[in-house]
Amino acid sequence: MLHRASPVTPVNLILLSLFVFLVYLRLKPAKPQTLPRAPPPTVFRTFTPPELFPYNGQNDMPVYLAVRGRVFDVTAGRNFYGPGGPYANFAGRDASRGLACGSFDEDMLTKDLDGPLDTLSDLGEEQFEALRGWEERFSEKYLIVGKLVPVGSEEAKAAAARK
Ligand code: HEM
Repeated sequence: MLHRASPVTPVNLILLSLFVFLVYLRLKPAKPQTLPRAPPPTVFRTFTPPELFPYNGQNDMPVYLAVRGRVFDVTAGRNFYGPGGPYANFAGRDASRGLACGSFDEDMLTKDLDGPLDTLSDLGEEQFEALRGWEERFSEKYLIVGKLVPVGSEEAKAAAARK
């Protein structure tokens, strides 16, 4: 009598389960494609110095700084300006004088946030040249998100009225 080997062998069982598994992998529905989340829209707005102040990278806030009235979003440079960074003093502030003078000392910052903006009128040609250099660099690297205006100015009042 012809003795037929049973097809149900351990090796065949393993091969079969491998086959079933591969078929399953093939037929498994692909994860739906999701688009990367778009960054929040940038709205150009006015900032008074007190309004700019919280944009210093703390409490998950973005990092902004102002140079000669233009507010730059320097969040991409968080390592420079974020909390603990070497230039953290500039975050949320008017950095014009510090950049012009090449100093990140505290006394380069406008003390009275409710007072007039720093006119920089005492600076020399060399310092303005340095400032222009920084402005050029920032313009290439960062987005301008607003304009710095003094507290109580017409522009600040107009912006407040629009809110
Ligand atoms: C001790 C001397 C200093 C050293 C060793 C130093 C070092 C550096 C380095 C390595 C960078 C990174 C450059 C890059 O990767 O793009 C940088 C950027 C920068 N530094 Fe300094 N720095 C010094 C002093 C200063 C001072 C006195 C100021 C004050 C104005 C300053 C302001 C800046 C700014 C604004 C940036 C640009 C960050 C950006 O691209 O957003 N640095 N510095």
